[in-house]
Amino acid sequence: MNLIVATSTHGGIGWKNTIPWSCPDDMRHFKSFTMDSIVIMGHNTYKSIGHPLSGRVNIVMTRQPSKNEVEQTDLYFCTDIYHVLKIVHNYKKPVFIMGGSEIYSLFLNNRLISTIYLSEIPTDVECDVFFRIPSHFNLVSDENRYSFVLKKYIYVNPEEGQYTKLIHDIVESGERVHDRTGVGCVTLFGNSKLEFNLQNGQYPLFTHRNIPFRHVFEELMFFIRGETDVNILRNKNIHIWDGNTTRQALDANGLHDVPEYTMVNGYGEHWRRFGSAKGRYSDQIMALIENIRNIRQGRDYKFARRLILSSWNPDTLDRCALPGCHFSYQFHVSQTGELSCLLYQRSSDVALALGWNIATAALLTFILADQTGTIPKSLHVCVSNAHIYTNHLAEIDTIKTSRTFAFPRLYISRTPSNITDYTFEDMKLMAYHYNKTKITLPMNV
Ligand SMILES: NC(=O)c1ccc[n+]([C@@H]2O[C@H](COP(=O)([O-])OP(=O)(O)OC[C@H]3O[C@@H](n4cnc5c(N)ncnc54)[C@H](OP(=O)(O)O)[C@@H]3O)[C@@H](O)[C@H]2O)c1
Repeated sequence: MNLIVATSTHGGIGWKNTIPWSCPDDMRHFKSFTMDSIVIMGHNTYKSIGHPLSGRVNIVMTRQPSKNEVEQTDLYFCTDIYHVLKIVHNYKKPVFIMGGSEIYSLFLNNRLISTIYLSEIPTDVECDVFFRIPSHFNLVSDENRYSFVLKKYIYVNPEEGQYTKLIHDIVESGERVHDRTGVGCVTLFGNSKLEFNLQNGQYPLFTHRNIPFRHVFEELMFFIRGETDVNILRNKNIHIWDGNTTRQALDANGLHDVPEYTMVNGYGEHWRRFGSAKGRYSDQIMALIENIRNIRQGRDYKFARRLILSSWNPDTLDRCALPGCHFSYQFHVSQTGELSCLLYQRSSDVALALGWNIATAALLTFILADQTGTIPKSLHVCVSNAHIYTNHLAEIDTIKTSRTFAFPRLYISRTPSNITDYTFEDMKLMAYHYNKTKITLPMNV
């Protein structure tokens, strides 16, 4: 939904239930901009205008509809947002929240606004109601219309904004370096920490583009089951590991004896059979589940600071299709039974893969929490070598300026007794809205 507002230079929008200035240019702009759309206003604003706006569907918010005011064609009185959303859905027209201050707050607080159009009127006349641009909106255009300035702001999911800031920092301050793929990168070292809230089911699946949740889930379960045969993913039409496991890629790493589409010492091998080359191995996933449960139930705190899942084994680095990038996860159980995760990535192809890795780490936290009776709390991501490949730079502006949305919610509807037995149907992802702009990024092998 859009929000449209005119403010004085001090952010004032009204005085004694009127608009305390006259700006015919802005009135003309308001009329042409909102014509043939749905306008939503508070009861005070409606009373100050005195009639519905012609050529538009009018929705008036009131907790107690007045007996003197009756609904008519294209005029509705609504007592709650749910009712508003139903009407909006039926009309399928653009929507403008047109004030006053209570109604602006109501729709902003419910995260229903994606774009704000603000006319700044060059007056500092006294006002008693005000409008301020919330911090999670970015100015994207600023146009001088002679008697006022028209500014456009778009919503930026503040947590996803950390990612766009990281991209900005890499491009602005990164170093041009050579890399193993021969493509070349802009790299920032040791300066990247991102944090995501996982409470109340918030799931940090990026929204500036579509991150295919089914693929994230299937890849994670592939690791959790200890699988390394990439054909398992290929049979599910998931091709993210193809490039690194072709005959050519394996041969380039000296893995001539390894069948095509095999990860060898991939994440699954490390997570379920760490060190198996030496005969005795560790099942890190089962150990994590047991240790988190013990801490949660107050039985044993020995592992409270040792809840680590590692995919870095120097003994087997020469037997990996690709040594683990997201190779270290550490978990923490709070006194009140909340589970947090810190992911440490030695290397991140930021434009292509970081959003995916964040989704994987968050999903692993949700699944471990489900298995251990803990509650997901937060995800912290540290990237030491954060890089953007030079053949991704052309898409960077699209990523940086893409609209973002609030993160979706995730809940798990069934808890199998074995962590390997989750199915995609158990994952209930709700309200995933994302930007439809296509972003094309080659994978560099
Ligand atoms: N400069 C601009 O662009 C602009 C635009 C619009 C308005 N304005 C100015 O803003 C001022 C009015 O703003 P305001 O904040 O006083 O009033 P408002 O937002 O226009 O209306 C507030 C009324 O909306 C209803 N309401 C509020 N929250 C509700 C909810 N959760 N559910 C259902 N109904 C709800 C209540 O009506 P009931 O009391 O009937 O329950 C409440 O009294 C005026 O000065 C007006 O001229 C300026």
